Amino acid sequence: MSKRFYLTTAIYYVNGRPHVGSAYEMIISDVIVRAQKSMGHDPFFLTGLDEHGQKVQQAALAEGKTPQAYCDELASSWLQFAQALNLSNNDFIRTSDQRHKAYVQAILTDLHSKGHFYKSTYKGFYSTSAETFLTEKDRFPDGSFDPAYGKVVELQEENYYFKLQQHQEWLITFIEANKDFIQPIHRRNEVLGFLKNNVLEDLCISRPASRLNWGIPLPFDPQYVTWVWFDALVNYISVPASEGDPAVSVPGFTSAKSEPTQSLWPADIHVIGKDILKFHAVYWPIMLKAMGFPLPKKLLVHGWWQKDGQKLSKSTGHVIDPLIVIRDWGLDALRYYVVRELSIGPDGNWTDAGFESRYSAELANGLGNLVNRSLSMLKKYRQGIVPVISRDLETDADQTVKNVREQFGEHNLQEGLVEIWKLITRANQYVDQTAPFKLAKDVTQSRRLNEVLYSLVETCRIISILIWPYLPQTARKIYAQLGLSEEPSRLQLACWGGMQPGAQIGEPQPLFPRKDLEAKK
Ligand code: MSP
Repeated sequence: MSKRFYLTTAIYYVNGRPHVGSAYEMIISDVIVRAQKSMGHDPFFLTGLDEHGQKVQQAALAEGKTPQAYCDELASSWLQFAQALNLSNNDFIRTSDQRHKAYVQAILTDLHSKGHFYKSTYKGFYSTSAETFLTEKDRFPDGSFDPAYGKVVELQEENYYFKLQQHQEWLITFIEANKDFIQPIHRRNEVLGFLKNNVLEDLCISRPASRLNWGIPLPFDPQYVTWVWFDALVNYISVPASEGDPAVSVPGFTSAKSEPTQSLWPADIHVIGKDILKFHAVYWPIMLKAMGFPLPKKLLVHGWWQKDGQKLSKSTGHVIDPLIVIRDWGLDALRYYVVRELSIGPDGNWTDAGFESRYSAELANGLGNLVNRSLSMLKKYRQGIVPVISRDLETDADQTVKNVREQFGEHNLQEGLVEIWKLITRANQYVDQTAPFKLAKDVTQSRRLNEVLYSLVETCRIISILIWPYLPQTARKIYAQLGLSEEPSRLQLACWGGMQPGAQIGEPQPLFPRKDLEAKK
């Protein structure tokens, strides 16, 4: 059983509406996974939902539903959202799944029996909406708290704590020794700065069931449920464990699979946003160490999207609805824009004008035009029959494939697109320079016209393979228009000479309808 490349997204709060931020995280994850597939690997892609907690419990109550029924309804719209994005995920975890709850309990039992928890009284401030304890450090000079915490109450209660402090030095050493563990580098520095300048406080991992019952009960004290983040982080290993992965086996949990079927853990990449870095770079590694499991190989931390320079906000209606963008422009236009516009790391700024300009310049006039005119000319001048192999653009195409492969290896998705679009621009220039429409008028240029037409259709074929991880629907459409039936999903196929002389291509059809022309109809 060989280890599969294993990538996860964060799991999304079930009661939060899918928005462009969640779409972005899912899309970049999907592109990384498809790039791995294209390079011949067999990746496993996990995404899903974070369902427990007080807010969900309260919202369900307000609607007169059980939390489970409430979550089931919301989960179905998240599943539809994942489908609308054409995600290639292998599994979809919900923290209310039985497999997950049973595994979390086994982990809690194990850690408790090994002495990692203790019970203690807490007296202080608590934010219900953030479901978190606050300290004096979180207070402004006037005694108030950040409004983001909502209503803050004072309370005193007994809870279970996880001993973190004893692992602090180990974690610093680990992060320093593993340069690629947190990417980009400034996020790594941020975590190291935090760890070196603060003493880690032990982590409260329980909430009294009297206050919160929509959670996973502590198996050793059912008066309590476990803290949502402890529950949520474990999703990354509860799925491998339920597939029988021996790397994360724990006493008291048996996988439903009689034979181990998957070797997934450690994850190759956790894709997360910058706001949840501390949970993943501090708490999660310590939890794993306490359990005796290996650490994930990489936290890939992306930035946040804004629109027109302002924070997205449901309450002010300052939002981008990805489903409306898909309805109006097509899924691949959305996938293209978010990946091309923003590299993984900094914050991004969505502007409708920027979106439209990329759509028209890069998709419609760049890629769409190249494919459409190449195929239409082949249809018009050679009845759609592929001529003998010529090699005009071979060197450019080979170099692009090499460059894109390198970018895929480093998960540099934006740079990969830049490389592909250089080839598209080159091929469009080639049409202008060789002027096949003129060659067609001169019978003595028939051979030259064949050469040009072959180089163009073959370049289109190679481009469709290169774009497949990013724009899988468009890639498939190009392949179909070329008269090819398989999926353009293997980089190995991007070798010059794949279009067979004598083959008949299909019908050329616009890939990205021009919006200005559409409006005039
Ligand atoms: N449930 C927790 C994560 C638990 S992971 C064990 C959570 N959920 S969330 O729904 O609030 O966020 C999920 C992901 O979406 C996070 O990685 C977050 O950074 C990302 N984004 C939320 N808003 C975003 C933007 N505006 N832009 C980009 N990503 C954003 O946190």
